[in-house]
Amino acid sequence: MQIKKAYTQAVSRKYPEAVVIAIAKDGKGRYNPITLGWTMITSHKPPMMAIAVGLARHSRAVIEEAGEFVLAFPSSTMADAALFYGTNSGRDMDKMQEFPVATQPATEVDSVLLADAVANFECKLESQLVTGDHVLFVGRIVASHVNTDETVKRLYTLAPGYKMGGVVAAKVDG
Ligand SMILES: Cc1cc2nc3c(=O)[nH]c(=O)nc-3n(C[C@H](O)[C@H](O)[C@H](O)COP(=O)(O)O)c2cc1C
Repeated sequence: MQIKKAYTQAVSRKYPEAVVIAIAKDGKGRYNPITLGWTMITSHKPPMMAIAVGLARHSRAVIEEAGEFVLAFPSSTMADAALFYGTNSGRDMDKMQEFPVATQPATEVDSVLLADAVANFECKLESQLVTGDHVLFVGRIVASHVNTDETVKRLYTLAPGYKMGGVVAAKVDG
């Protein structure tokens, strides 16, 4: 049975929600990470993924100007970093300097991979669409990377209020 509720109450049932971190290089040469819950795969051939970024966010201009970004699937050990990157702005600080995490250079775009993430995807900005108060950035994936440790758990938001925890990733073949 269904009972009618306010949208905000009904949509809070979406959890658990996978967390991603998008990293793009800003005009000052800093790699700016933003934590995002609103993300999806949009194409298989060619592979593409989309993220919804608030119109007023610093990352909106950074990603638009860079025209490329890395999309990382953080591991459960990265909850504190994800919370920091998701509650502080690159407008005010160099987030990766304030809260350092292990990185590796990306191979096809000017950004960094998060070394402890479950997986990283290098994306070229393919298209964008303003949807209400967010912009949907669609990235064409030009390189993909997986963690050599297949036991790492993927980070999810488990409940409202940014309560995060780990979920075991499906086994990677090959
Ligand atoms: C778990 C989590 C999920 C988030 N999801 C989104 C999202 O999907 N879209 C968005 O625009 N902001 C999202 N945020 C908020 C941004 O990460 C936050 O506003 C960040 O400080 C923006 O950084 P910037 O100013 O450097 O762009 C999320 C934050 C957290 C902690």
